[in-house]
Amino acid sequence: MEREIYIPESGPPQGPPLSKEIFLEMGEEKIRLICDKFYENVKVSEIISMYPEDLNFSAEKLADFLIQVMGGPSYFIKKHGPPRMRARHFPFIIDEKARRVWLSCFKKALSEFEIKENHKSEIWNFLETFSAWMVNSK
Ligand code: HEM
Repeated sequence: MEREIYIPESGPPQGPPLSKEIFLEMGEEKIRLICDKFYENVKVSEIISMYPEDLNFSAEKLADFLIQVMGGPSYFIKKHGPPRMRARHFPFIIDEKARRVWLSCFKKALSEFEIKENHKSEIWNFLETFSAWMVNSK
């Protein structure tokens, strides 16, 4: 039977995209390193069972997406087509708890890099909002 997909009341993420200044300041290399760190954290977290064995490709896809969202090159679209991120997450049962774990893995990764405070908080706000829209289960 098809499972019931939960639609968050907050709806799709609104608001302006991340400032390109963040991308220019951080550069592609650092964003990729943060995503690698993020997946090292995922590896020892409660949500690891959702992920494929090879996390390198997952890290590459996440970095490609974030770079694009930050106004860098459109790597994600070029490699994988339209983002449709919520739909891409439908195969996984993502509830608020899984979202919290995901965010904490990212927060830990971010904390290990030197990033301007205002940039860090802009990235964090984006991830908090965006991740809420990935939730598809009560
Ligand atoms: C809310 C908690 C989240 C959970 C539990 C989750 C879980 C997952 C899982 C299990 C995959 C499949 C792994 C793979 O395809 O390599 C995936 C893919 C992906 N996730 Fe998430 N995710 C969450 C939030 C997010 C957020 C906030 C973003 C972006 C800011 C994001 C970006 C991506 C991208 C770009 C992919 C690859 C999509 C594809 O090409 O198929 N995810 N996620």
